[in-house]
Amino acid sequence: MKILGVSGSLRAASFNTALLRAAQELAPEGVAIEIFGLHDLPLFNQDVEDQGDPAPVAAWKDAVRGADALLLACPEYNGGVTGVLKNAIDWASRGKPAPLDGKVACIIGASPGVTGTVRAQDALRQSLRKVSALYWPLGEVLVGQAHTKIEDGRLTDEKSRAVLQRHLTAFIEKLRG
Ligand code: FNR
Repeated sequence: MKILGVSGSLRAASFNTALLRAAQELAPEGVAIEIFGLHDLPLFNQDVEDQGDPAPVAAWKDAVRGADALLLACPEYNGGVTGVLKNAIDWASRGKPAPLDGKVACIIGASPGVTGTVRAQDALRQSLRKVSALYWPLGEVLVGQAHTKIEDGRLTDEKSRAVLQRHLTAFIEKLRG
């Protein structure tokens, strides 16, 4: 099973990208989480789209199409989704069929604040109308005070690792039916 991990942060020391790396370590057997960096994706512009997708956009769309599901690590900026992640969603929502059509998505997030990206995750769900299913169990992965739980790019807080592992395991079980 191939899961595409996407971080809404371009920051080298991103807490959210660190969460994706932890997910790679904690994923169940037989599951590969491939991280796709959004660094090269241009800002969405319909004029550019009309000329044909630039190479980084085509690569992004291919990666979404080729994945069994998405794992979105969602930072929070001003109570919402980062422009980086929203822009990626906008590109992947285009075309017939669009790469996002029918995908299953799971959302996780980390921030130094206490609420751990809960507002951004809600906003992200609002934008994901093209996916056929959002995995949203009773618990959410909201890693608050991330600066105390992620050291040198590694999620070291055992409680957070356990929450993430439980969440991932349940998500994969659901995908496998
Ligand atoms: C933030 N940050 C932030 N945090 C939060 O919990 N709620 C918020 O509304 C905001 N708003 C916000 C706006 C802007 C412009 C910046 C740059 C930052 C802090 C943010 O959570 C922090 O920078 C994280 O480290 C960003 O995620 P990465 O880069 O570590 O993945």
